[in-house]
Amino acid sequence: MAKSSHYEETKKYWNKKAPSELAREEYDIRKKIHTDLLWREIRRALNGNKNLSILDAGAGPGRFSIPLAQEGHSVVHLDISGEMIEIAKNRLPKTEKCDITFVQQSICEPLPFPDQSFDLVLCLDSPLSYCVNNYESAFAELVRVAKKTVVLCVVNRFGAMMEDAAEFDFQYFGKLKTQWDLLHTGNLNVNEEIKQFEPNLMPSWHGFTPKEVKDLIKNHSGKIIRISAPGTFTRCMSPEIIEKVYQNEEVYQDFLDFLEEFDSKEDVLGVGGIYAGGLLVRFEI
Ligand SMILES: C[S@@+](CC[C@H](N)C(=O)[O-])C[C@H]1O[C@@H](n2cnc3c(N)ncnc32)[C@H](O)[C@@H]1O
Repeated sequence: MAKSSHYEETKKYWNKKAPSELAREEYDIRKKIHTDLLWREIRRALNGNKNLSILDAGAGPGRFSIPLAQEGHSVVHLDISGEMIEIAKNRLPKTEKCDITFVQQSICEPLPFPDQSFDLVLCLDSPLSYCVNNYESAFAELVRVAKKTVVLCVVNRFGAMMEDAAEFDFQYFGKLKTQWDLLHTGNLNVNEEIKQFEPNLMPSWHGFTPKEVKDLIKNHSGKIIRISAPGTFTRCMSPEIIEKVYQNEEVYQDFLDFLEEFDSKEDVLGVGGIYAGGLLVRFEI
């Protein structure tokens, strides 16, 4: 069956982005912190277990899938982008044996796995948001293939709105436009009109509110174990100071403890990090 134009645009966008994806952490220390916070959540989900079956859905260049496979887990690395998968394959250690399988497909399509195939399902840094209007069926698929635990990180609607969309609207339309859509529906619809201004924009996406994520999980009878908006506190800090904090391991770990507590306060859940999937939830089915 012919793929939708959104599928083709998403694949094309991420194929192009693949070579620079891992460099994100080098130019902004807040990205590095984001990764460390995601690792903390993954570690809790693993709970010290070895040899788990893990699906990393929208796994990109293997930021998590490869180290998890190196630790002895059996990992399925799934991504819409063939370029991302190639980069991940090239990053595999040459001398170690890793149990990792690569699958190229969209999470917006039915997943090729039986029910309850995986001890742990990861979907990090926003593949679910890139399903836009299909996110509910994609979410249902992630839940279907999970035995129990899912760790999900999506675009945090209000945090994303506070980035550059207002400037974009005023620059091109002379008034607010996409911001109103984002506020009311959570969707940024990258249509032909928008593409004529910015041809390289990320294809349409959905920014979630904490309530939307909570309702989605509740509708599938899931139980939230932990929800946070990583990056909320560091959004307002200077990267130079954070660089200094990062140099001292003890101070850094204490800082991460603080961030985890702050960023999970109910009152700040709707913000999240800058240029990051800023709404992180671990839940059980
Ligand atoms: C920001 S990267 C995150 C990669 C990885 N999860 C991580 O946290 O490092 C987003 C990834 O989602 C993938 N992606 C986007 N839409 C997707 C879809 N519909 N199905 C599967 N993968 C998708 C992209 O190709 C890209 O590799």
